[in-house]
Amino acid sequence: MARFLITGGCGFVGCNLADRLLRDDHRVVLFDNLSRPGSDRNLEWLVGNHAGKITFIKGDVRDSSYLEYAMKKKHAAVFHAAGMVPDPSSTLGGQEGFEINARGTLNVLDAIRKTRDNSSFVLMSSVCAADSSPDRPSSQPTDDSLVNSSKEVVEARSLDTNSPYGRWMAAAEQYVRSYSRSFALRTVILRLGSPYGIRQRGDAEHEWVARCVIAAHFGREVIDCGDPNQLRDMLYIDDLVEAAYLAFQRIDDVQGETFTISGGATNAMSPLELAGELEQITGTNLCFSKPCRHDQLGRVANIYRARKSLAWEPTVSASFGVRKFYNWIRSNEHLLDSTVEHKRAA
Ligand SMILES: NC(=O)c1ccc[n+]([C@@H]2O[C@H](COP(=O)([O-])OP(=O)(O)OC[C@H]3O[C@@H](n4cnc5c(N)ncnc54)[C@H](O)[C@@H]3O)[C@@H](O)[C@H]2O)c1
Repeated sequence: MARFLITGGCGFVGCNLADRLLRDDHRVVLFDNLSRPGSDRNLEWLVGNHAGKITFIKGDVRDSSYLEYAMKKKHAAVFHAAGMVPDPSSTLGGQEGFEINARGTLNVLDAIRKTRDNSSFVLMSSVCAADSSPDRPSSQPTDDSLVNSSKEVVEARSLDTNSPYGRWMAAAEQYVRSYSRSFALRTVILRLGSPYGIRQRGDAEHEWVARCVIAAHFGREVIDCGDPNQLRDMLYIDDLVEAAYLAFQRIDDVQGETFTISGGATNAMSPLELAGELEQITGTNLCFSKPCRHDQLGRVANIYRARKSLAWEPTVSASFGVRKFYNWIRSNEHLLDSTVEHKRAA
């Protein structure tokens, strides 16, 4: 039995990862300031299912001394999933996003360095950290038949991005690389694509799959989904969690590396195709609002390196994952609170 610390452990990614580790009989410390609406319910869910194996620390990653306190005990790994998710209104970047996502990452790394334990560190970053770079190494093998109309995310791309969120994550990644080299910290960066699944709320910009599934359930129009014809690859949360677990288990072989973790070409769908899947499940037709300036663009990630080095593969097909998620939404409607309600009515 090992002990893990998850920052942002009450968020969508964090609570699903915690649940996976706890089901393997490990102990988990959740470090979260509960700022994301719904995170308190995720905490209740975890405590309800795994009482006695969880320690919850209500703390903020901007508070370095409190982080050092939280790291006093030894952890097999620190999974860093605390962060501010993209908000289309923050086009100018905002100090807060930088303080949480970039400086917050630096604070976590520094707390590990100061405690001098041998914890592994896994950063939940984003494909947005490198989505504008024009360099495409010719040696990079391609992933199945990536469809021409979508933008391929090449894993070896250098950090370059147009969005404020991408810049925060690019800065966070640079701190991780620097701590890995300068202090021999055992780190892995996972650049996440479009994860979706249970306990996702659908009210953040990138949570377009959840928005479609929730809209289908309530028979509403889908808003902020971008061009419904553009392909995007989708990753079910269980597969993401498995990749994070594998990154820890294989840390001796993969430390210092960066992997793209997304659904890849075989799990790519356009919102229109997703609407077709949902129509088969619900019997109702999904309508989309007109794309707006901040909407997500289509993209399909190349996941070759994670396949090769982590021996990882998405196992939940997009069709099956959507059905699982829809069934969960249907029986957990009460968890979709006023924020989502607001989005639906907008
Ligand atoms: N879910 C995605 O589609 C996706 C895609 C790419 C990258 N990511 C990144 O992965 C990470 C986790 O994503 P998620 O979907 O679980 O997001 P989430 O919003 O569901 O979870 C983030 C958690 O961090 C907590 N938090 C926020 N600010 C904090 C702070 N200052 N101190 C301590 N805790 C804080 C929130 O309360 C929340 O519980 C984020 O950094 C996100 O940017 C997510």
